[in-house]
Amino acid sequence: MLSSLQKISALIGNTPVVELNMPGVSLFTKLEYRNYSGSIKDRAAFSILSNAIRSGRINSDTLIVESSSGNFAIALARICKDIGLRFIPVIDPNINRENEAMLRLFTDRVVKVEKEDSTGGYLLTRIETVKELCAQYPNSFWTNQYDNPDNFKGYYNTLGKEICDRFEHLDYMFIAVSSCGTISGISQKVKEKFPDITIVAVDIEGSVIFNVPPQKRYVSGLGSSKVPSILEHAIIDEIMIVSHEELVAGCHELVRDQNIFAGASSGAVYAAIKNYFASHAIQGTPVTLFCCADRGDSYINNVYDKKWVNNMMEKLSTIKA
Ligand SMILES: Cc1ncc(COP(=O)(O)O)c(C=O)c1O
Repeated sequence: MLSSLQKISALIGNTPVVELNMPGVSLFTKLEYRNYSGSIKDRAAFSILSNAIRSGRINSDTLIVESSSGNFAIALARICKDIGLRFIPVIDPNINRENEAMLRLFTDRVVKVEKEDSTGGYLLTRIETVKELCAQYPNSFWTNQYDNPDNFKGYYNTLGKEICDRFEHLDYMFIAVSSCGTISGISQKVKEKFPDITIVAVDIEGSVIFNVPPQKRYVSGLGSSKVPSILEHAIIDEIMIVSHEELVAGCHELVRDQNIFAGASSGAVYAAIKNYFASHAIQGTPVTLFCCADRGDSYINNVYDKKWVNNMMEKLSTIKA
């Protein structure tokens, strides 16, 4: 497994940084969608699996289990396939059809929970199902991205380091949050080299990470219905909560103004950056960085689909009325 890990490690990280065009801001984005399985989550999956293999917690017969319907499950599926480990993703009916198709393609078994939990969502049922699977298979390993410190350590050691190596000076980083691995790892690392940098966490309305009232969320990639324990490792200066409308506009503006076709979290962060600099009087031209965490492909039938967007807006206006 160690030699397969070594081969995969060459395919993760060292993603390109490109300069964008935004008046008054020296804006850069790191194209994390150029990672192996297409997202920033390759770094977390690789870090968690490789550390568990090195420590002996995972051997070649271990079954990997995780509750995830998104990029983290896809990253685990691809890496596990490469190193010959079985992986069962636990998903729910809210998964988008592109991700479900991908997971069914790259794993032998997908478990889809159908029962809503006491909060009206599926998170608690998914976690319960993960625990049941782990009890059923004694040699199993729950990667547990929300609580596993190897999640944020992966970002500290790789993405954070790449950013420090690439820039001489940085004023701002805007970072989307879900498990909070990215923001914890990056904020710790970049604050060592750039102590005056402002780290802005970007979340979506309805996510409970920063004590915003829970509400149905219609897009994947950012937000969470529980507060991840690894958030306590993050060094955050400011928090911005983006609405669904702003997120969709951000995605479309990235295409229109920057020719970048990226996913929901990238659009949310882009919208946050535009709002931030429109409403703050900043001296000089701040050097600002964000990540494009995944591509737009798996959002083509939602965020990039007019009919879907209109439908979502209608549902949201009923909720907000
Ligand atoms: C597209 C995308 N952006 C941002 C994030 C947030 O990253 P983290 O879980 O490290 O907070 C995720 C997490 O799944 C993601 O898939």
